[in-house]
Amino acid sequence: MTAADETQMFDGIETLRDRVAADLARSRARSTALTDAVDDDDLVKQHSKLMSPLVWDFAHIANQEELWLVRDVGGREPVRHDIDEMYDAFQHPRADRPALPLLSPVETRSYVREVRDKVLDVLASTPLEGRRLVENAFAFGMIVQHEQQHNETMLATHQLRTGEPVLHADSPPAPPGPVVDEEILVPGGPFTLGTSVEPWALDNERPAHQVDVPAFVIDKYPVTNSAYLEFVAAGGYDQERWWSADGWAYRQKANLTSPRFWLRDGDRWLRNGFGLVEPLVPDEPVVHVCFYEAEAFAAWAGKRLPTEVEWEKAARHDPATGRSRRYPWGDEDPGPQHANLGQRHLRPARIGAYPAGESPLGVAQLIGDVWEWTSSDFHAYPGFVAFPYREYSEVFFGPDYKMLRGGSFGADASACRGTFRNWDYPIRRQIFSGLRLARDARPDESQ
Ligand SMILES: [Fe+2]
Repeated sequence: MTAADETQMFDGIETLRDRVAADLARSRARSTALTDAVDDDDLVKQHSKLMSPLVWDFAHIANQEELWLVRDVGGREPVRHDIDEMYDAFQHPRADRPALPLLSPVETRSYVREVRDKVLDVLASTPLEGRRLVENAFAFGMIVQHEQQHNETMLATHQLRTGEPVLHADSPPAPPGPVVDEEILVPGGPFTLGTSVEPWALDNERPAHQVDVPAFVIDKYPVTNSAYLEFVAAGGYDQERWWSADGWAYRQKANLTSPRFWLRDGDRWLRNGFGLVEPLVPDEPVVHVCFYEAEAFAAWAGKRLPTEVEWEKAARHDPATGRSRRYPWGDEDPGPQHANLGQRHLRPARIGAYPAGESPLGVAQLIGDVWEWTSSDFHAYPGFVAFPYREYSEVFFGPDYKMLRGGSFGADASACRGTFRNWDYPIRRQIFSGLRLARDARPDESQ
């Protein structure tokens, strides 16, 4: 993307302030909806050792907003400096958070409001230039993305919660026509990975750099429930040969037999989505599989997971121009016609539902629906510089985490773009994760 594109994206300071205000409001509406959906007992309760109480997430969102926008960008006095430590994610693992003397739901809501009022004042009065943290409103964009990421985490907490369903949303669009699953050849050659110009891209997405990617083949769509069910029915969970050594050890230890939230009912399978139990939808992407399950399914299917670089090339490469797009469909921000994002629907859309979101090569539903596991570890791009702090990405680099790409129905457009990199432990299953298959191109295909 050129500098001209960037200016076009944020056309003037007032437009930029309006955009930040709209994004902050959208994030807050979602945090509020996710916390208002349950009563106070539910808010302070830990629904799973894997997750924080919802009230911790909400106050932590406001605390980060206070640290970065009220104190740092705004240079204002602290609202509550006494609680910084309690809401520091690095100080307290999720399992320990319920035992902390957390703010009550009433105190949390009033803290959240007070911080936001100050932030809106800072937004109106701070020059959005002259310092890297505020150029293009980066710090505001970072905080918007932070809240949206916690909204997705809070949605995962809702998925783990037991009891009557409390979240409701419209169904995603149905495919407008017949759907033909196919493999798509991504030609070999250079590709520009990452970005140096996307204003709100995080440090780990930078800088843009050229990589040479050999030809490969990728599936047009993510793996569906019906395809995954074949693996389950074929005894894939009992056959060590499909699993890596670490994967098999975890499969044994955790006694995995199917994706999380699948339930067996005689000879049929059901799935529990936010408390609503229903038969599996065959052509919906499979969700709630860990990296090890994804890897084993791919081996059973005679294929493999794409690397992170392959995934991004399939999503962004325009063979006509050689340029990398912001999104598969182009440079336009995601709209409801492109992708299933933003908790608009509380499930992945059936394959074929978003023809307007396809990449130039015809790869579909890369953005939204389900996060897609890749085979790659979390590494810095050449020329990486930690910004604005090491704890954003750098401390996570290494072989412990696997990369996920593309966002899910629970992710927001602001925290999901063609270059966006997500990482998690290979055993994670409560996240909205699925997969897409790839393979090397045969010599006769890659000519
Ligand atoms: Fe956080």
